[in-house]
Amino acid sequence: MDQAAKFWDRIANYYSKQAIGDEAAYQKKLQVTRQYFLPDMELLEFGCGTGSTAITHAPHVKHIQAIDISPKMLAIAQDKADANKINNITFQRASIDDFNVPAESLDIVLGLSILHLLENKEAVMARVYKMLKPGGLFVTSTTCLGENMKYMGLIAPIGKFLGLMPLLRIFTGKELTDSIGQAGFRIDYQWQPSKKQALFVVAKKPG
Ligand SMILES: C[S@@+](CC[C@H](N)C(=O)[O-])C[C@H]1O[C@@H](n2cnc3c(N)ncnc32)[C@H](O)[C@@H]1O
Repeated sequence: MDQAAKFWDRIANYYSKQAIGDEAAYQKKLQVTRQYFLPDMELLEFGCGTGSTAITHAPHVKHIQAIDISPKMLAIAQDKADANKINNITFQRASIDDFNVPAESLDIVLGLSILHLLENKEAVMARVYKMLKPGGLFVTSTTCLGENMKYMGLIAPIGKFLGLMPLLRIFTGKELTDSIGQAGFRIDYQWQPSKKQALFVVAKKPG
């Protein structure tokens, strides 16, 4: 976790100032997600980054636990939440690889722009599945590099070795949805604005 945390710490300020690539697509994903919310819901967002999504969703749910491995990302997120007078988000430094919450305690788990950065996304999805209540939702938006970037398979490990890039996993959208299904989820909603953009999925734990 430390090398990755250092990478994200290094770019946190820059990341927080970047404009969203496709604002309309981002807004649509927020809106689709929000359709599932109820005011008494308990959420977890892992890899929350600078907190923008959690801050946008917070007024519509009871509480959001927002975790990230990067202290700098979390500091920016907390400042933004304070500036927006949002006080129902708990930011915490933690990795989703070993973050513990009681089984079947969460209504929704968000993992946005993060599954392709994990050592073992299947293990994480299995953990998320356990955390969710029956009928709970896993919402993810994931860059699936498998379709577009043949050569990333070579470049990514070299970049990681040199400390220039975080770990980057290459998989297709189909591989991702297969993994989500194998974790036990049923896909409730799926949208990819274009072939080169992230795949957005709302997956439901049966029950
Ligand atoms: C590409 S950014 C995405 C941030 C935010 N979710 C967004 O959509 O803008 C990835 C974030 O995941 C965090 N991260 C990477 N590995 C993680 C892990 N194992 N557990 C929790 N957070 C992690 C990084 O520190 C970084 O803030």
